[in-house]
Amino acid sequence: MTLRLIEGGRGSSDAPGLLVHGAAQVATMAGGIRRGADQGDAAVLDAAAAGGMASPDAPVVACWDGRVVGVGPRDEVERGLEASGFSLSRFARIDADGGLVTPGLVDPHTHLLFAGTREGELVLRQQGAGYLDILAAGGGILSTVAATRAASEEQLAAHGRRWLDEMCAHGVTTVEAKSGYGLDLATELRLLEVAFQLGREGPLDVVPTWLGMHAVPAEFRARPDGSDAYVRHLVDEQLPGVAAQGRARSADAFCEQGVFTPDQCRRVLDAAAGYGMAIRIHADELAPSGGAELAAELGARSADHLHSPSEAGIAALAAAAASDSPVVATLLPATSWYLMEHEPAPARRFIDAGVPVALGTDFNPGTSPTPSLPLVVSLACIGMRLSPAEALAAVTINAAQAVGMGEEVGSLEPGKAADLVIWRAASIEQLPYWAGADLAEVVIKRGRVVHRRGG
Ligand code: NIG
Ligand code: FE
Repeated sequence: MTLRLIEGGRGSSDAPGLLVHGAAQVATMAGGIRRGADQGDAAVLDAAAAGGMASPDAPVVACWDGRVVGVGPRDEVERGLEASGFSLSRFARIDADGGLVTPGLVDPHTHLLFAGTREGELVLRQQGAGYLDILAAGGGILSTVAATRAASEEQLAAHGRRWLDEMCAHGVTTVEAKSGYGLDLATELRLLEVAFQLGREGPLDVVPTWLGMHAVPAEFRARPDGSDAYVRHLVDEQLPGVAAQGRARSADAFCEQGVFTPDQCRRVLDAAAGYGMAIRIHADELAPSGGAELAAELGARSADHLHSPSEAGIAALAAAAASDSPVVATLLPATSWYLMEHEPAPARRFIDAGVPVALGTDFNPGTSPTPSLPLVVSLACIGMRLSPAEALAAVTINAAQAVGMGEEVGSLEPGKAADLVIWRAASIEQLPYWAGADLAEVVIKRGRVVHRRGG
């Protein structure tokens, strides 16, 4: 597919408008968070149904000054723009050339910033070592903590840029980024500051999350009351410092047997909510640990992983699902795959219970070193039996909701950010089908082309 960018009538290369036409399908995802049967409604505008790509009724997306200003049949959108005083000559045109257009993808769960790599753990797991055994022996998260504490702000920023670039090349335009490899106040603040600055630098939006409650660091492990003492440190020192810095929008905690108990997580997350932070929880990743129940009790924005929830946990999320701010079940199939789990998370049970489902990469150096959200979409369709449209909702509007940006990104609707992707695929169904392929042809962030395949 060739990209044809036709400049605006005045020959201006900085025309503030952009009109994307020639799409076989535009999956608008309009209409808000998806749950239950609606999870599979991608609100698609289909060119064939409108009389073909050359038809005046073929779907287009119009953007102005970084915002979507029109989505729908070409003639109708163009007439609407003119009626509102826009000059069509100021819109650069991009021909999607029979591709699929979707909102820019949102990755709602990453551990973007860290130093070092842990490829040796893959071999240890092949030999039968468990993830928590590696952590208990001082490896895993703790080895990344040691490397991260030693890394400068510039090194962390360079690493962040490298992987944000890679995510962007896979069609991602908004990324949640957790701290959690510092586990002391100074390093946690450094991670949150770098995440914030990377978002400010752009082009991608970066949404920082504080994950001080990721593991008990080595200096506390030596103490008999180490875990509780670290929880006291989190509440009394780390959290007030993080709140005063003001970069983290939410607080996360690893609620898992052998890591932190629900009571410990409740103490820290309640305190974080008191500072106005939203709550997210690494819940029941490896064993039923009360994480899903706690997420429902605290009104968390998301409960993540949920590979091994209890029946009570599923019921608690189902009970919260009908509310205006349901807990989004953020599933991370690349992690289950990478940890060599045989069964996937029970995605269909969540959908059947009306719980909104999102998908993330969980990009991190231990359990999911993949930056590719499209690969996660394939894994979700193949392993968890999500339909392609359900999976697309999970990486757009539901993921946006999970990171508190549902009003700003995640769907193509007038007023929202002009974040969109032209895929080298003719339909939603082709996205998971070409598993592992490089399908993001053009990525547009706030109305600007920020990535072209091979460009
Ligand atoms: O989401 N489970 C906790 N945190 C990460 C893994 C972190 C690591 O192993 O470095 C996760 O899988
Ligand atoms: Fe994670």
